[in-house]
Amino acid sequence: MAHLKLTNIKKSYGSVKVLHDINLDIRSGEFVVFVGPSGCGKSTLLRVIAGLEDITGGTFQIDGQVVNALTPKARGVAMVFQSYALYPHMTVYDNMAFGLRLDKGSSSSEVDRRVREAAAILQIEPYLDRLPKALSGGQRQRVAIGRAITRDPKVFLFDEPLSNLDAALRVATRIEIARLHERMADTTMIYVTHDQVEAMTLADRIVVLNSGHVEQVGSPMELYNDPDNLFVARFIGSPSMNILPARIEAAGAETAVVPEGGRRIVVPVPTPSGSSSSAAHLGVRPESLELVDEGQGLFTGRVTLVESLGEVTLVYIDIGRGDEPLVAKLPGEVRLARDSTVSLSVDVSALRLFDGSGRALRGDRAREPELMRNAG
Ligand SMILES: Nc1ncnc2c1ncn2[C@@H]1O[C@H](COP(=O)(O)OP(=O)(O)O)[C@@H](O)[C@H]1O
Ligand SMILES: [Mg+2]
Repeated sequence: MAHLKLTNIKKSYGSVKVLHDINLDIRSGEFVVFVGPSGCGKSTLLRVIAGLEDITGGTFQIDGQVVNALTPKARGVAMVFQSYALYPHMTVYDNMAFGLRLDKGSSSSEVDRRVREAAAILQIEPYLDRLPKALSGGQRQRVAIGRAITRDPKVFLFDEPLSNLDAALRVATRIEIARLHERMADTTMIYVTHDQVEAMTLADRIVVLNSGHVEQVGSPMELYNDPDNLFVARFIGSPSMNILPARIEAAGAETAVVPEGGRRIVVPVPTPSGSSSSAAHLGVRPESLELVDEGQGLFTGRVTLVESLGEVTLVYIDIGRGDEPLVAKLPGEVRLARDSTVSLSVDVSALRLFDGSGRALRGDRAREPELMRNAG
């Protein structure tokens, strides 16, 4: 069991600030995923938690105890990296036992018990006598995870552990990690990835990082349905949410939004105070768009590209806003000729509105989420 609390954590390398006032509360047994663009500070934050990096400011507590000055071992933290870093001349068994044997406290029967237990959890028992070179990439990564399990950590940290694996192995090992989390229900896990699917499927909560600060923390579906800002809206979901420059127009109690390249639409959002007309952004997920009869939709434009992926078809539509097409994700196979004209509509409840600075305008959704999401 380990409850982690990060308060105003700062990290600089010389004059370069990498982490700015990170505040996070991670519950015992929770699976938290850090996502964000390359260089945003994910690994640095993980290494700070592990105790592999000193922090420049702030406090880090585990179960109420300030651990800023404790070593990784004293924190009860184990980390699995992208590169498995196994000893090539040692068997799988010895690789997994190595760290334990260094701890003078463990007897050889205790080491044996822990190695076999970890091997059983990860189903690598048949390979215990092999050298790493006789294993697939996925098996090697399981050995690296097994080695971390033998240390019986309170906190398990993963830094892009699957990114060296090919697509099929990534999926298999991802499922393995989900099972591991179920089996080690008391162990707090933090997992860094840039892979959307890993983040969405593994996380109890996702932390979206951008340039060393936290953009939003929430369950995968909260982030997907209710992004706090344009950054999160663009980052979560694939293909990305369409973001259209728009104007908000208020007439009495009614709020309407006019997206560039689209028609005026009345939305269930109170008008931002202060003006009757303001700049905004309209967010439309590609999967919210549907084809309608020509001229009937919110958007009408010319098809520039059709990508058939089997279970879905991606359609790129020029709605007259420069190079940036509107992207629609339509179920099944959709046959559309390039240059044909299509109309697309969207349920009002699926639209997301952001103010000029990129913050979500939520209307009543925040207060009565179900009601408003089902409306319209
Ligand atoms: N040891 C270091 N010295 C100087 N700068 C570093 C060091 N480690 C990381 N950085 C910088 O910190 C930023 C965040 O890096 P990192 O945490 O590795 O990002 P991510 O894992 O999200 O890709 C980057 O700009 C990187 O160049
Ligand atoms: Mg990294």
